[in-house]
Amino acid sequence: MGWRGIMGFEYGIIQGPLGPDISGPELVAAVANAGGLGLLRAPDWESPDYLKELIRKTRTLTDKPFGVGVVLAFPHKENIKAVLEEKVAVLQVSWGEVPEDLVLEAHRAGVKVVPQVGSFEEAKRVVDAGVDGIIVQGYEAGGHVIGQDALISLLPRVVDLVGDQDIPVIASGGIVDGRGYVAALALGAQGICLGTRFVATEESHAHPTYKRKLVELAKTEYTNVFGRARWPNAPQRVLQTPFFNDWKFLPSHENEVNQPVIGRSTIHGTEKEVRRFAGTVPNASTTGDIESMAMYAGQGVGLIKEILPAAEVVKRLVEGAQLLIQQQFNGI
Ligand SMILES: Cc1cc2nc3c(=O)[nH]c(=O)nc-3n(C[C@H](O)[C@H](O)[C@H](O)COP(=O)(O)O)c2cc1C
Repeated sequence: MGWRGIMGFEYGIIQGPLGPDISGPELVAAVANAGGLGLLRAPDWESPDYLKELIRKTRTLTDKPFGVGVVLAFPHKENIKAVLEEKVAVLQVSWGEVPEDLVLEAHRAGVKVVPQVGSFEEAKRVVDAGVDGIIVQGYEAGGHVIGQDALISLLPRVVDLVGDQDIPVIASGGIVDGRGYVAALALGAQGICLGTRFVATEESHAHPTYKRKLVELAKTEYTNVFGRARWPNAPQRVLQTPFFNDWKFLPSHENEVNQPVIGRSTIHGTEKEVRRFAGTVPNASTTGDIESMAMYAGQGVGLIKEILPAAEVVKRLVEGAQLLIQQQFNGI
């Protein structure tokens, strides 16, 4: 294990699962090869054979361990079975209860369970279920945001809750560089989880226009304008694009269902129409009016100045944090 690794990984750096299919085999393998924990994202529908193919494709690109993220708000039983059968290193789950039985079943398959939570109460429940690590998502985070608390106040509470149990607490939301990494360590985290920074990498499956906007724009907003019908009660943090700013006061009775089709996208091998206000971000296959589609981003997006290889993101996080600790905090 190298500098501050967690759960058997060289580093305490996690690339969050990026829905619907932005963290594909290329990104996950690049993060794994760089010593971090990369997470694939399972489809939002049962597709165990496809998921197994994704896992196997990733294994052709890396011989390092990696994981899969499953959103429990969607049908997932068969997908989780596929994850356990393939014995990936980590099953990340979010947006649903984590039963003790699931944790036991995963452990029997040699798979660690690491939920992402957004509140102290949720953290308490997953600790009781016997999980192997906890990702604490702050309100700063990009994508769907499950809680209301800022990371700076929520994270130390979860650290205190865990106490001396061997459950690494991982900080998620707004972290982009070594400074954020050190701040998370100071709050008691053992690792960090980044989403937006990894969307803006060469290997991510995001559409080039989405990546470019992450570099160009700096402001985000917590909203529920996108994907209201398909996934209700799941607010999201998005980039303030000109399209979003024009429509942010969308009346509450409106949703994506009766809107015009603005593009097409192949998501996990299935071709889909993209309606205005749909909740899926544009991937590399998406055609149409890309600038009018949802673009998720965390509050740290203003710190992203260039598209980088994923390995470079990992390297800069580790080296930046080490340097900061040596130069600024040694011997204070
Ligand atoms: C495009 C995008 C898609 C995401 N999809 C998921 C997902 O499927 N499951 C999940 O648990 N979190 C998802 N997240 C949230 C991340 O796991 C993480 O909490 C968040 O990105 C951290 O904040 P940051 O973006 O500021 O780094 C997503 C985030 C983004 C930006």
